[in-house]
This record gives sequence, C-alpha cells and structure tokens, in this order.
Amino acid sequence: MNPDSATLLDSLQGAVGSDHVLTDADLRASYEADWSRRWHGEALAVVRPATADEVAAVVRACAAAGVALIPQGGNTGLVGGSVPRSHAARPQVVVSTLRLRDLEPVDLLAGEVTVGAGVTLAALQAHVRPAGFGFGVDLGARDSATIGGMVATNAGGIHVLRHGPMRMQLVGIEAVLADGTIARRLPGMLKDNTGYHLPSLLAGSEGTLAIITRVGLRLVPHLARRAVALVAVDDTATAVSLAGALRSSLPSLVAAELFFDEGLALVLRRGGGERPFRDAHPAYLLLEVESRADPTDDLATAIDAAGAVVRDAVLASDASGRDRLWELRENHTEAINAEGVPHKLDVALPLGRLAEFVDRVRAAVEEAAPGAACYLYGHVCDGNLHIGVIGPPAEDEGVDSAILRLTIEMGGTISAEHGVGVAKADWLEADRGVADVAAMRAIKRALDPIGILNPGVIFRD
Ligand code: FAD
Ligand code: MLT
Ligand code: ZN
Repeated sequence: MNPDSATLLDSLQGAVGSDHVLTDADLRASYEADWSRRWHGEALAVVRPATADEVAAVVRACAAAGVALIPQGGNTGLVGGSVPRSHAARPQVVVSTLRLRDLEPVDLLAGEVTVGAGVTLAALQAHVRPAGFGFGVDLGARDSATIGGMVATNAGGIHVLRHGPMRMQLVGIEAVLADGTIARRLPGMLKDNTGYHLPSLLAGSEGTLAIITRVGLRLVPHLARRAVALVAVDDTATAVSLAGALRSSLPSLVAAELFFDEGLALVLRRGGGERPFRDAHPAYLLLEVESRADPTDDLATAIDAAGAVVRDAVLASDASGRDRLWELRENHTEAINAEGVPHKLDVALPLGRLAEFVDRVRAAVEEAAPGAACYLYGHVCDGNLHIGVIGPPAEDEGVDSAILRLTIEMGGTISAEHGVGVAKADWLEADRGVADVAAMRAIKRALDPIGILNPGVIFRD
C-alpha cells in the first residue's frame, strides 16, 4: 500500500472507527459488484459512517487525498452507479449508508416523516403503517433498496400512476456536499419556495452532487382493502388502451403492469408455480386497486365492462392470492438474472407509440444479437418498458446501443426510472441534447469542482 493510501485509511478509521473501514477483499466483495453482476470494480476501502458528521469527515478525508467517493445504499441499482468503476482514473472508496437508519416519529399533523438515508423501503413502510400511513413509492427491491438510494435514482416503481416518483414525495433533505459541508433543510415543508429546491436537485443526481444522509418525506393514507386482477389480452395496444381507460373509470387503480407470455413462462420455469390461466395468451395486464372499502366489485365490474378485449381474467382479494399474482410480475427481474448476466434497459415511450416500440424493439434485438432471449415487462401507464436481454457477453454493448437508438428515434427516454449510471453515460447527450447536458455539467462543476463524487456516473468521466 502506498503511503498516501495508508494516511487516508488512518483518517477514515479516525472518522468512523476501524470496525467500519473494510479493506479485506472478502469483506469488500459484496460492495464491489452490482446486483446484475454486470458492473464491478475495486475499492481501496468500504467505509460505513453512522452519522452525517461522520459522512462529512469521510468526504473531507477523501477530498484532501483526491480519492473518489462511491455512495452506496442497498446496492440494488441496475445501471452500475453504486459500485466502483472497473477502469477508474483514481482510487475509490465506497461509502455505505446502511448505518444511517434513524426513523423519527411520524408527524401526524403534517402526514410526514424524516428518516435516515440508509433506511430500507420496507422498514419505512412498517414504521409508518401503525400511524395509518403508507408511502407513495413501492418497488420489488423494497427489502434492500434504501430511501437515500431511491432519492438518488428518483426511483419510480409500481405506484407512479397514483403518487408519482420519488421526487414527488420529498419535503426536506440533509446531504453532505463535496467539500464536507452539510446542507440541511429538515423536516422541510411541502410548500417552500425559498429559492432552489435542493431535494429536487438531488433527486436523480445518482450520487454525483452530494451524499444524502436524511430525508423528509410526505406520506399517503394507508388504504387497507385491496384487490388484484390479472387480465389476458391480445397485445400491447390493447393493454395500453385498457389501462388508459381504467385510469379514469376506476379511481381506486394504483398499479397497471404489463408482461408477456415468454416472461411468464420463464418466471414459472425458474420459480415453479402454476399458469394463472388454462391457455397461454400473448400479453398480460396486472391491475391493483386499493380503497378503504372492499374494491373487489369495482375492479370486477370495470373488467366486465371492457368486454371482448379481455381474453380471460383472474381476480384475487385475499393476501395470498394477491401475492401470487404479483409474483408473476415482480419475479421477472430475478428470473432473468438467474438466466445469465442480463443486458437491462429501462426506457419510456410516449404511450401512443408503446405498442409499435414493442414490435420494433424485438426486431432490433434479434438483428443486433441473433438468437438472444428478450424479455419485456413494465409499468404500462408510465409508458415505461424494461427490456432484459440474455445472450451477448456483458461487455458487448451492441444490443444496448440498438435499443437506445430506437428509443431516441421514437421520441422516448433512455432512462425512465433506473437512472443513467455508467451504463448509459455515453447516450446522455443524444437523449437530452447539448444545452441540457452543458447546464447539468455546470451544476456538477459548481457543487463538485474536483469531481470526486461518483465520477463516471451520468457523465462519462
Ligand atoms: P444503490 O443501488 O445503492 O445506489 C443507486 C445509486 O444511488 C448509485 O448511483 C449510488 O451512488 C446512489 N446513492 C445511493 N445512496 C445514496 C445516498 N445516500 N446519497 C447519494 N447517492 C446515493 N427501480 C425503480 O425505479 N423501480 C422499480 O420498480 C425497481 N424495481 C427493482 C426490482 C429489483 C428486484 C431490483 C434488484 C431493483 C429494482 N429497481 C427498481 C432498482 C433499484 O431498486 C432502485 O434504483 C433503488 O432506488 C436503488 O436503491 P439502493 O438503495 O439500492 O441504491
Ligand atoms: C421492475 O419494474 O421490475 C424493475 O424496475 C426491475 C427491472 O427492471 O427488472
Ligand atoms: Zn420498474
């Protein structure tokens, strides 16, 4: 180890205690590879601060040494931004936020709560439920994904059609800036027009502008009665128009998810379980409603009213039946991951073009990677489609490029909810344009002049 690294490690141990500076390769390993195994790199150390002051001391030590900081929460991110870069220009330290897990009491008057950045989504949900509240964002990685990571990626998930993404839940924030100062506006207020809104700026910043340490969140009423339906349809166009119609005719609708028969077959092959219908169908729409009174009849009536476009439907009001239907959709991610290292894309299209995109993207994948397996699924009301491709080697970007090129050509966005990360940094300008990217780079330079916060993420280093 060179003398500079030894001095830095001493400073880090002084900041967080030697038990929380991991340098052993075995201990670092799970922090150095991402969930998909496509992205990995080596860190000088993993540090695990427990307070904002400790994070600030870590940042100051790394800034003095010119060492890069890689913020990491639950490491469920899917664009390579939560782990060290494989070809880094300078040494890297992973800053794990998992010890920042304070849960403050729910503010019952405001319907808000302040929590540490390392609190998992599931822990937040369990914390606010006894007070009669829920949280507006929900996603399949709820047991591991942290609130800080969800802010940093502006996570979307399954309830965006009702409550919007993470950005729309933020009322306050505490974050450590690149020079080690702590910006704090907590608990924050929903109405607060005192200049630039830092929570919004940091939402989607992917660890490139600051390390988020605490977050003030608005809550939503917990509506305990739920029902889920799985509806079989002919194609994407039918799913899009049915989900669109239900948005206005079924006010209790909170989720509308799309998947196809090849994905369903894979989920069943990998995880076991029975087909939900006797026959296979081309496309499936999973619908969830929630209310104070039992919404099952409303959901059944709405599906009946849709008429012949519904090839078949199954409905569940009890918890285990609902969970079984949800697993058919949520288990796509793990089932695809179990097939090999996936190429994961997360795009959104104008809704009027989603069906055309589904056809064209399948053809584009076949052309770029003949014989590759291609799985499509997503959050249909948001125009958000996930594409998982198994076949080409992890480092081969041909299929990724083909999908992103088509997305931009059709007026879509290359990242709907997972972020840009390192995976799509080369495509940012093609999507956002020169002026937008210049403005973003100016913000980055102003807040992180020496470029130590997550270099290579969003912008190519
Ligand atoms: P990490 O993976 O640790 O980090 C993600 C990014 O945020 C990195 O760039 C990291 O540097 C930065 N970061 C993390 N914490 C901080 C912090 N405190 N301050 C500053 N920067 C920070 N995403 C969706 O949007 N919708 C979904 O439906 C969805 N479903 C998923 C299902 C599965 C099974 C999996 C594995 C992932 C899913 N994801 C989904 C992706 C992922 O869960 C989200 O991106 C989530 O927000 C990441 O949270 P995390 O704590 O794991 O962050
Ligand atoms: C999902 O909606 O399942 C997630 O965003 C994860 C994925 O893309 O696989
Ligand atoms: Zn998703």
